[in-house]
Amino acid sequence: MAQKYHIVTYGCQMNVHESEKIAGILRRVGYTESGALEEADIIVFNTCCIRENAENHAFGNIGALKKLKKQKPELLIAVGGCMTQEKGKTEVLKKKFPFIDIMFGTLNLEDLETLILRKRTQKKKVIEIREKEGEIIEFPDAYRTSYPNAWVNIMYGCNNFCSYCIVPYVRGRERSRKSEHILNEVRQLVKEGYKEITLLGQNVNSYGSDGKTDMTFAQLLDAVASIEGNFRVRFMTSHPKDFNEDVVKVMEKHRKICRLVHLPVQSGSNAVLKEMNRRYTREKYLSEIEMLKSRLPEAEVTTDIIVGFPGETEDDYLQTEDLVKTVDYASAFTFVYSPRQGTKAAEMDNQIPEDVQKDRIMRLVELVNSLTRKKSEKYVGKTVEILCEDYDAKKGLYLGRDEFGRMGYFQSEKDVIGQFIQLKITKANGISLFGEMQEGK
Ligand code: 5AD
Ligand code: SF4
Repeated sequence: MAQKYHIVTYGCQMNVHESEKIAGILRRVGYTESGALEEADIIVFNTCCIRENAENHAFGNIGALKKLKKQKPELLIAVGGCMTQEKGKTEVLKKKFPFIDIMFGTLNLEDLETLILRKRTQKKKVIEIREKEGEIIEFPDAYRTSYPNAWVNIMYGCNNFCSYCIVPYVRGRERSRKSEHILNEVRQLVKEGYKEITLLGQNVNSYGSDGKTDMTFAQLLDAVASIEGNFRVRFMTSHPKDFNEDVVKVMEKHRKICRLVHLPVQSGSNAVLKEMNRRYTREKYLSEIEMLKSRLPEAEVTTDIIVGFPGETEDDYLQTEDLVKTVDYASAFTFVYSPRQGTKAAEMDNQIPEDVQKDRIMRLVELVNSLTRKKSEKYVGKTVEILCEDYDAKKGLYLGRDEFGRMGYFQSEKDVIGQFIQLKITKANGISLFGEMQEGK
């Protein structure tokens, strides 16, 4: 019987897609997918280290495998992802969890294949982490699990060194994939029936600025959206210091591109933005949104916000609240600042007490929720286009998203996963919408 794999993923879309590449490698060496963790012959943890709780989560789950490994000594346990790229982290992992068999990093994902083969012939654990980024490796056999959505990397790494962020330390410097590789991949995905293509990068607007490819991001987006077929295009993440009119002009040209921009603001206070090394001001940020909405009035914006950054005063926080109200985001991911070893902000001597951080995050979440709730209510009575993504067996309903990422639930007699559905919204519940499928539209 074929041996089985199980992958546990933490963190962002980038990691979700990386797990699809890991699945491709595991299938290459002969494993097949396993539903349950207990049935697996290899378990791979694809970790995240962006905030402390992501790390703790992985630590907890890896630790919980001690018993299983004892019962099943032939089980292979592999740990990869951002955490293993952190300075000194493999030592910590080795000490804490001596039963880990394989460790690999984000910068040498492709080595997993040889590491598994090596581990099969030796008792000793196999650890290989690459410290510096190398040439981009293509993964034509990524095993995708998110049909009808497909993630496509356009670049890797980050050069920005926002003072709170560990990403540049664990993902290396920016490098752009060749445009022809990206375009071929998208063409193939569309041919296979994928209906939503999301172009991924830490800072998509600086695509091509490493001189490794022949297009700017706006040109690439234009080329992707010019591919024939019935599909949507999304992109993330845009850095406000680089987001520009050229991209919006391309959005204007193609209805295939969702009218949604993920533009992380992080803070509404210029003083905090400066300390965060974000290299834009509140005014510049707001002017970009104005530019976007003047060209595309229906456009929506989503964002990421950090509260409790070192030195953030109550007044700074209130400026964030004010900005949130001004922009009226479609949705916002809100985080409490988490000090990351090796970053500049972790060394700052004006860290904010936990109770103040907690109070601010609670107020901000309340504000964001009230705004999203209001937006949801406006949907009632309208008909929107949903891309059906899945079936929720518990609810007995199909679900999908509109171009602004709003989740809509509905009933259907037949399987409509992968189809664009016209949904008449009858009810809004927090961030979720419920509606009736309009037949024959
Ligand atoms: N603490 C809290 N949030 C963070 N982010 C990045 N680093 C940290 C940190 N140290 C958030 C930012 C970023 C998102 C992906 O994660 O808001 O946009
Ligand atoms: Fe981190 Fe800033 Fe790079 Fe985003 S742009 S990954 S927040 S350093």
